[in-house]
Amino acid sequence: PPYPLYTREEVGRHRAPADRVWVTHGTDVFDVTDFVELHPGGADKILLAAGGALEPFWALYAVHQQPHVLELLREYKVGELRPDEAPAPGAQDPFAGDPPRHPGLRVNSERPFNAEPPPELLAESFLTPNELFFTRNHLPVPAVDAGSYRLRVEGPGGRALSLSLQELRSRFPKHEVTATLQCAGNRRADMSRVRPVKGLAWDIGAIGTARWGGARLRDVLLHAGFAEERAGEWHVCFEGLDTDGTGAPYGASIPYGKAMSAAGDVLLAYEMNGAELPRDHGFPLRAVVPGVVGARNVKWLRRVAVSAAESPSHWQQKDYKGFAPCVDWDTVDYGSAPAIQELPVQSAITQPRPGAAVPPGELTVKGYAWSGGGRPSAAAGSAARSAAEPAAAIAE
Ligand code: MTE
Repeated sequence: PPYPLYTREEVGRHRAPADRVWVTHGTDVFDVTDFVELHPGGADKILLAAGGALEPFWALYAVHQQPHVLELLREYKVGELRPDEAPAPGAQDPFAGDPPRHPGLRVNSERPFNAEPPPELLAESFLTPNELFFTRNHLPVPAVDAGSYRLRVEGPGGRALSLSLQELRSRFPKHEVTATLQCAGNRRADMSRVRPVKGLAWDIGAIGTARWGGARLRDVLLHAGFAEERAGEWHVCFEGLDTDGTGAPYGASIPYGKAMSAAGDVLLAYEMNGAELPRDHGFPLRAVVPGVVGARNVKWLRRVAVSAAESPSHWQQKDYKGFAPCVDWDTVDYGSAPAIQELPVQSAITQPRPGAAVPPGELTVKGYAWSGGGRPSAAAGSAARSAAEPAAAIAE
C-alpha cells in the first residue's frame, strides 16, 4: 500500500488468464491468475467470478468463509476499488428456502446447513429421531413439488424410465431396512486434536440410524432392463436436484454389484422412521446404501444411470477419498486414491463427555459402535470395549 485504485469496469476487463484474472472482495482487488489452477474447487469454478465480485459465489460455497481463505486471498491483492464505486450487487441468499430446523442440533455450518445432535441425545434411542438426525448438505435444499416430481432411470440401449413418486410406490414392493448412515467426516474434531485437518469440525454425531422405507434399487434397475450381473466393472451413478453455480448437481456412484445385490438392501427411500422423508434428508427420494459412506447416499434424487465409469461429480472424484498422512492439500493427487465406499469400524462414547467429573463407584457409560460395510457386529463390539477404556480411566 498505497494500492492503485480501479473502477469495477476496469476490473471487469480481466476475465481470462490471457488478460489476467481479477476479482474483488469488499473493496479490495485481487489478481488471482496464478491461483486459478490451484483452486481446490477447480479452475472452471473460480473463473465464474472472473472480472467481478467473489461474494455471490462465496454465499453459495460457505467453505470460503474461513480465516485461512481470506489470508490466502490477501497474497494476491493488487489494488482497491475507487471510493466512489458502488458496493457489489447484493448477493441473493440461495439458502433462503431451506427448511426450519430443530433448535437442539449443533450447527457446524449454517450455509450450507450442516449439523449434528448433541452426543447426550444420540445414544438415547437406537433409532435417531428425524429432527435430530445429522444433516450434511453441500448446497441449498431444493424445493421439490411431489406431484410433478419424476425420477429418470436410464436403462440399457438408450431407453429411459421416468417414474413418478406414485409409480415408485405402487409398481415396486416397499422394502424396509434399518441402517446406520455415517459421514466420512464424523469425529474430525478428534482427528484435529492429533493433527489439524481441513473440513467441518464434526464431533461424534455425524452418524445416525433410521428405519428407511422405499423401493429396492435392484427392483427398479431390473425393471429398467438391466441384468443381475454385468461383465466388467460398472457403476450406478446418482444425481441430486441440488446444483451448484454452474448447474452441476451433487452426484456420487456405487459399484453395480452392491446396487444389484439382493443382500445389499440399497433403497430408493421415500420414508424415514415411518414418516415422509424430511426435506433436509432428501425429500422426496434418496438413495440409502447400507454400510457405505454417507456421501454415496444421494439425496433429492433426480437421475440414476449405469455407467462404465464412476460418477464424474466433484464429490466422487475430488472429495471423499482417503490418503496417507504424508499427503496434504499441496501434494494431493485425487486420481491416485479410490473413492471411499465402505467405512471401517467406528465407535465413540456419548456419555460421560471428555473431561467430565464423575462420582466414584459404578458408572454408566453410553456410546455407539458400528462395524461398517455390513460386517458382523463382533468387530463393533470390541471397538466399543476399547472405546470404553478411556472412560473407565475418567471414572477412576
Ligand atoms: N446428496 C445430495 N444431493 N447433496 C448432498 O449434499 N450430502 C451427502 C449425502 N447425500 C449430500 C447428498 C453426504 S456427504 C452425506 S454424509 C449424507 O448425504 C448425509 O445425509 P443426511 O443429511 O440425511 O444425514
